[in-house]
Amino acid sequence: MEKLLINGLTLAYERCGAGRPLVLLHGFPLDHTVWQALAALLEDDFDVIMPDVYGFGASTLLEEASMDDMAAGVLALLTALGIDSAYIAGHSMGGYIALSFARQFPQQVRGLALIGSQAAADIPERKAGRYVTAQQVMQNGVEVVLDMAGKLTLNPGLVASLQQIILRQRPAGIAAALGAMAGRIDSTEHLSGFRFPVLLVHGVDDNLISVERARDIKKQLPQASLLELQGVGHSPMLEAPEETAQAMRMLFK
Ligand code: MLT
Repeated sequence: MEKLLINGLTLAYERCGAGRPLVLLHGFPLDHTVWQALAALLEDDFDVIMPDVYGFGASTLLEEASMDDMAAGVLALLTALGIDSAYIAGHSMGGYIALSFARQFPQQVRGLALIGSQAAADIPERKAGRYVTAQQVMQNGVEVVLDMAGKLTLNPGLVASLQQIILRQRPAGIAAALGAMAGRIDSTEHLSGFRFPVLLVHGVDDNLISVERARDIKKQLPQASLLELQGVGHSPMLEAPEETAQAMRMLFK
């Protein structure tokens, strides 16, 4: 694990492999370790960079962080590493950050992959619920969101390791991310401006973000590649790593 202090903020990341630069952005309420299985399949073709986004793992906690701030942190990391442009992939919340990156810094994007994610913003009820959960996490700790582990996958064998990842996160980091997700904009109208390859990987049995949300993106951006995975839930990189890696290798040449 490496750490860089950039503009007074620590960004921790793991890096492996060699080749085309590929950034993998983890989802909520996790850290970069969720990518280990996928990274092992991609490292022969890509220079794989897996940051802990602000507030998670060993990276600085930004209490008022927005998705745009988190995306700016990714750009700062790439700049510090001397990388001009990269393939950017995000899982779920990481996809929201990837979308913000693509909107803010299109020249730095070689390709975009959204894994179990969506372009839409939260509906008002979801937004309100996130603020309530954030308060509960601050009062009672990360155990409040521990049940996420069972929603992140259909594979019961993966739940215990996801719980371990959740339990090592900081309550304030989780609360900040809930606020950032609640405040994110709807990226749908920006999709048609994307001039790079876009890959959508989605579990047909995702109970957290319906596969319909990936189909919505495909409608806006017909040239996007959509891989729908039968029998897979919210975490294709864990539940179907081979298929996910293969799709990334095919599109990101
Ligand atoms: C995630 O997996 O990152 C979150 O469930 C995304 C969300 O809550 O919108």
